[in-house]
Amino acid sequence: MKSVGIIGGSGYTGGELIRLVVNHPNLKLEFVFSTTKEKKPITFAHPDLLGNLDLNFTGAINPKIDIVYLCLGNGKSREFLKQYSFSKQTIIVDLGNDFRLIKDHEFQGRKYTYGLPELQKNIIKRATNISNPGCFATAIQLGLMPLAKDSAISSPIHINATTGSTGAGIGLSSTNHFSWRNNNISWYKPFTHQHLSEIYQSLDQLKSHNEIFFMPHRGAYTRGIFATAYTTYKGTIKEAQALYQDYYADHPFTQVSIEEISLKTVVNTNNCFIHLYKYENTLLITSIIDNLIKGASGQAIQNTNLLMGWEENLGLQLKASIF
Ligand SMILES: NC(=O)c1ccc[n+]([C@@H]2O[C@H](COP(=O)([O-])OP(=O)(O)OC[C@H]3O[C@@H](n4cnc5c(N)ncnc54)[C@H](OP(=O)(O)O)[C@@H]3O)[C@@H](O)[C@H]2O)c1
Repeated sequence: MKSVGIIGGSGYTGGELIRLVVNHPNLKLEFVFSTTKEKKPITFAHPDLLGNLDLNFTGAINPKIDIVYLCLGNGKSREFLKQYSFSKQTIIVDLGNDFRLIKDHEFQGRKYTYGLPELQKNIIKRATNISNPGCFATAIQLGLMPLAKDSAISSPIHINATTGSTGAGIGLSSTNHFSWRNNNISWYKPFTHQHLSEIYQSLDQLKSHNEIFFMPHRGAYTRGIFATAYTTYKGTIKEAQALYQDYYADHPFTQVSIEEISLKTVVNTNNCFIHLYKYENTLLITSIIDNLIKGASGQAIQNTNLLMGWEENLGLQLKASIF
């Protein structure tokens, strides 16, 4: 049994991690650190956990904890680690973007391994700390990696991806207000979203160097990412399906669907479903995930399982909520 601390546990990814950790057979939740809810019961922020745990938020950490998950805003993990230090043996899993790029992956003598199991499972098994991928970055990379590895991308890639409102975190902003978001859709950060850097980094690792045009959208629903990418492809649809099935054969959470896919089939699970469609010389790749689970907290647990030498899907056999 490994002891767990969560920092930023009153936020969205922190809340999902608490739910996953309390149901994981090999993890024991010891503390949940909060800057704003110290001493309040965890159910104050996450009322759905009533009856699942009897723990209050704390303003102190245990520096000897086995595993700590940092669920803070982008750029805040470094700030936090400058104030609070953990034992060398503590495994740090960062859900933010502070350590995802190779140029940023060393900090305070620790090395952070990019935690996308479908890209580098064997490297993650030997990691000491993890930088967990971004949510859009996860959906998009899972959609592109088989083509990239096969050197099958020969022209720019165009991507549209829509995220639910939980993708923006718990803080209220004008574009996350119910009155604005409900019955609405809009794009943001056209062609410049920050996740492009980690996507390019992974595709470079697979020796694929094509330009990407990425349009992120805000959807009028709470969770999930629906991503479509298209690019030219010389093979047949059957060859594309075989390529993807072969690439994901040893990856239990990523499945290739022959039938068209819709978002709710992965919501509340750690799965990514992929569908392929060929139109003339263009391959359309659709990939869908739950942004808070495969896009964040579920993937953090998947990485923990790999790093600890446990079954990859331990504590992650979740059920979709499709109705
Ligand atoms: N939301 C997603 O779908 C998603 C997906 C993948 C990755 N991520 C990444 O995961 C990280 C967390 O995202 P989130 O959506 O969970 O954010 P969030 O809902 O805004 O929660 C972040 C929490 O961090 C705590 N916090 C804020 N400033 C802090 C500070 N200076 N020191 C310590 N704690 C602080 C706050 O909790 P207290 O008030 O309790 O301290 C806050 O609720 C972000 O970097 C995000 O980019 C998010």
